[in-house]
Amino acid sequence: MSAQNARITVVYYSSTGNVHRLAEAVVDGAADAGAEVRLRRVPELAPAEVVEADPAWRAHLDATAHVPEPSLDDLRWANGYAFGTPTRFGNVAAQLRQFLDTTSGPWQAGELADKPATGFTGSYEEHGGQESTLLSLYNTFFHWGAVVVPTGYVDYEVVHRAGGNPYGVSQVEERAAVDADYAKAVLTAARYQGGRLAAFAGTLAAARP
Ligand SMILES: Cc1cc2nc3c(=O)[nH]c(=O)nc-3n(C[C@H](O)[C@H](O)[C@H](O)COP(=O)(O)O)c2cc1C
Repeated sequence: MSAQNARITVVYYSSTGNVHRLAEAVVDGAADAGAEVRLRRVPELAPAEVVEADPAWRAHLDATAHVPEPSLDDLRWANGYAFGTPTRFGNVAAQLRQFLDTTSGPWQAGELADKPATGFTGSYEEHGGQESTLLSLYNTFFHWGAVVVPTGYVDYEVVHRAGGNPYGVSQVEERAAVDADYAKAVLTAARYQGGRLAAFAGTLAAARP
């Protein structure tokens, strides 16, 4: 498989930086494989008083103010997608969901179909709902007619060291905070996921008339 001609858009939401770091690693992995990559952060929707009540949330929002917001043209431009979200009550964060719910125009025009798509997440707890979050995210990809690209156990060592989630790279924040080797392994797996996505994107793009 070749990532030549791959154009990847990475769209994510992060309130305190964990998923942001994963998104940057996915970008790096796709770019290293040879893809052109756009990184996009969906807008914050939480009320100001909720954000202000958490200094880490406020600080991260300010620190990432330079990251462009996604547009539907970013989706039309790309031939592969990665979406990242923190696990929120076992589900996709509303901020990302809101963006996904604006895609009915390109979906109806078939502009999202036949392209590879993958997801990544982070939760606080090991059993806090990472898989249900990714499966929920993937429901949208099925409706688009996208080609879901999971991490699987294709590179078993990389996925295993990162916690072993074959649905998509998923960080356990509690563990990453105290285990530097684990935190590094998760970022390595996210870079792998970006490269794997880019290879699918380039290969499928080359096969398209
Ligand atoms: C409203 C809310 C709901 C959450 N729900 C869960 C959950 O269901 N399971 C879990 O393990 N962590 C949960 N968390 C914790 C986040 O998933 C976790 O802190 C994650 O690493 C945050 O990523 P971020 O720094 O990119 O925002 C929740 C956090 C918030 C604010």
